[in-house]
Amino acid sequence: ASAQNTVTFKPDAPTQTINRNIYGHFAEHLGNCIYGGFYVGDTSHIPNVSGVRKDVIAALRKMKIPNLRWPGGCFADTYHWKDGIGPKDKRPTIVNTWWGNVTEDNSFGTHDFLNMCEELNTEPYISGNVGSGTVQELTDWVQYANFPGKSPMSDLRQQNGRKEPWKVQFWGVGNEAWGCGGNMRPEYYADLYRKYATFMQGNVFRIASGANGPDYNWTEVLMKNIPHHLLQGIALHHYSTVEWSKKGDAVNFNEQQYFATMKSALFMDTLVIKHSAIMDKYDPAKKVALVVDEWGGWYDVEGGTNPGFLFQQNTMRDAMIAGATLNIFNNHSDRVRMANLAQAINVLQSVILTKGDVMVLTPTYHVMEMYNVHQDATLIPIALHSNDYVYKNEKLPAVSASASKDKNGVTHISLVNIDAHKTQDITLDTHGQGYKSISGRILASAKLQDYNSFTKPDNIKPADFKGATLKNNQVSVKLPPFSVVVLELK
Ligand code: AHR
Repeated sequence: ASAQNTVTFKPDAPTQTINRNIYGHFAEHLGNCIYGGFYVGDTSHIPNVSGVRKDVIAALRKMKIPNLRWPGGCFADTYHWKDGIGPKDKRPTIVNTWWGNVTEDNSFGTHDFLNMCEELNTEPYISGNVGSGTVQELTDWVQYANFPGKSPMSDLRQQNGRKEPWKVQFWGVGNEAWGCGGNMRPEYYADLYRKYATFMQGNVFRIASGANGPDYNWTEVLMKNIPHHLLQGIALHHYSTVEWSKKGDAVNFNEQQYFATMKSALFMDTLVIKHSAIMDKYDPAKKVALVVDEWGGWYDVEGGTNPGFLFQQNTMRDAMIAGATLNIFNNHSDRVRMANLAQAINVLQSVILTKGDVMVLTPTYHVMEMYNVHQDATLIPIALHSNDYVYKNEKLPAVSASASKDKNGVTHISLVNIDAHKTQDITLDTHGQGYKSISGRILASAKLQDYNSFTKPDNIKPADFKGATLKNNQVSVKLPPFSVVVLELK
């Protein structure tokens, strides 16, 4: 074991709520995320509600999925929502040019998505088409989803079987406008955004397409050029990779690749701090949210699968990315008020993998489920001193942590040790909070490369954690290598 790491509660620091939407997910028309993942159609032998898998609904509800972004991603800027309403056999097809050039039959459309969100008890987050759509098209979509009175679009909605509006709050105005969304310059996109956002009316939370990782100029230009009454959120995308040009296998990785992935994951902290500092300059009251609506690990696709489908396995490395990233978001929840892991099922860092009628919950699922105690809880600011995880001549902080108090007064602390070899001893000073009991859960495994397969779906799952003791307001924790622990103090 290593020298002592310390986590100290800072009871006098200002606190804020950890918005549950930080724990959001993302479902694109990409590979088997929608088709085969969420949706199997209502004639499938797989148990379903209006075509949506029942096993998936139950798992995502248990995980407490707060919001779901759809229909893309890059796909969103090619998507024309009117193709996906009305009788399914009359819907036109389109070619999914970004993802494998497969023909999309539009059988999963607006009603399917929004009704599914109701089943999941989650808030929909629709990504509008700016790249190849029109202002009218997006305005119509908002009216179709949200308008309660009489209007052309609410009439059409009713004709298609839905009387009450769904009241969709979250709307993205384009996706990756700097890339697949149109290769725009920030100045041009900011002007375009102003136009689109002006016509999106009602109770809508409009989210601008944000920076690609460390493109700070993008955030600067948007914050400066877009009037803030039109802007409720600004996005940021960052994926954890070994190297973009050499991503490596999702399962068979070595320590150098693991270290590089974690370095890339922890870079999220720098990104959030720097983008927030720019936002603070233009919006000191922090009215505009930073919405990290794409994040997660990105590796080479599994052998034998379509390279355009981005299907990858999910190991303890992914659990490390999830645990550490969510701690970053919690600790910056004054500005980061929404985020979306990419993507929910069968694409990139998924929480669920499906094959026929079988479903597997990944290590990332378990982290999301363990951390859901932080949703809408009050952040407890902490001071953290961590030992280093050293690889060759590089180092990263081994321990990451965040803490919150829920509405029943129960405190939760999530701890991650990314060190590939060493147990970390942590001393937690709760600053005289007078806790009487402690319990916890751990996600750990023998090897970093371990995963849950279709034949061994429960290989990795949370277990009771016995490595923490409470004495005189001080908690001592022994955190095994590459593990995630969530402690509960009462
Ligand atoms: O999540 C996969 C893709 O990554 C999304 O479609 C796009 O927005 C990003 O580049």
